[in-house]
Amino acid sequence: MIPLVIDTDTAADDCFALLVGLLDPRADLRAVTMVAGNVGFEQQVHNALLTVALAGRGGEVPVHLGASAPLVQPWVSAADVHGDGVGGIRRPDDGHAPAVMHAVDALIALSKEDAGRLRIVAIGPLTNIALAVRMDPGFASRIERLTIMGGSLNGRGNITPAAEFNIYVDPEAAAIVLDAPFREIQVVSWDPLTLNHAVFDAERIERIAAVGTTLSAFFVRANQTTFDFDIAAGLAGSTHPDSLSVLLALDEDIVEREERYRMSVETGSTLTRGATVCDWRSENPNIVAPTRIDGERFFEYLCALMALMPDTPEAVRAAIAADAAGDVAADTAGD
Ligand code: RIB
Ligand code: CA
Repeated sequence: MIPLVIDTDTAADDCFALLVGLLDPRADLRAVTMVAGNVGFEQQVHNALLTVALAGRGGEVPVHLGASAPLVQPWVSAADVHGDGVGGIRRPDDGHAPAVMHAVDALIALSKEDAGRLRIVAIGPLTNIALAVRMDPGFASRIERLTIMGGSLNGRGNITPAAEFNIYVDPEAAAIVLDAPFREIQVVSWDPLTLNHAVFDAERIERIAAVGTTLSAFFVRANQTTFDFDIAAGLAGSTHPDSLSVLLALDEDIVEREERYRMSVETGSTLTRGATVCDWRSENPNIVAPTRIDGERFFEYLCALMALMPDTPEAVRAAIAADAAGDVAADTAGD
């Protein structure tokens, strides 16, 4: 099994990425670490604890709290994209709470426990990873592979024309991480990789809904706000780079083409803050970036994952089944 940590700003696709790490038999998910990003920090922690419980692993996989703000820039919300990140589902009180150890301390401790074997998948802003690099100069070299969902290889952004959200929120952190001596940094880009191979249109969402399990019902509900936003933004459906990032940490066979670049981050400009510049000519590349994957195989993998029936607590099943209107009925009926 592959020792893994997922660093996340848990909302929508981050939840599905956590389910990959929680349910794939190849993954030994040692911890989830929380970082400021998509939606309010408390809401993200709620979403992560809900997802761990959904997978039947509440109290088993620790959720560590990390940086609740970027290093330098003010926090930027993506609540307009994701809503609360879980479609209004409210986590039943199951007695499970975040771990006491800070996320950055946990990242450093786990890097020593599994020195040379630990893989980290960062699917939010890179604040925690940068803090670990600064706190422990030996941290980066103990990580077998750091997979980052962030940036673009060709200048196309999403939160601005020039910058992808995870990098835009904390460009200083990204610059620190990209300059650190990690053994390998794998970058899952917004463009070209996500836009070409990790978009789920209405037909695919229908196929996931037809799986008919608690996991698939959660997927459809937690994904709906993001799906609607992405369609309104002109995409063919919802984007799923985070779940692809965790799968890539477990299964490299879906990579059909990859390139090596020297990736740098703009931190000085207002107009192009967070832009990632990829030099294909460099003789000193710092990232490897998949540029083509088997997108249908990725989708089929997620459909199979959603067909699993983990030991989900009944109260969590009920919370997922209760719709926004029905919440009151469910609450007054007594859980
Ligand atoms: O730009 C896409 C990334 O930003 C994804 O990780 C999404 O969850 C948001 O964090
Ligand atoms: Ca994310």
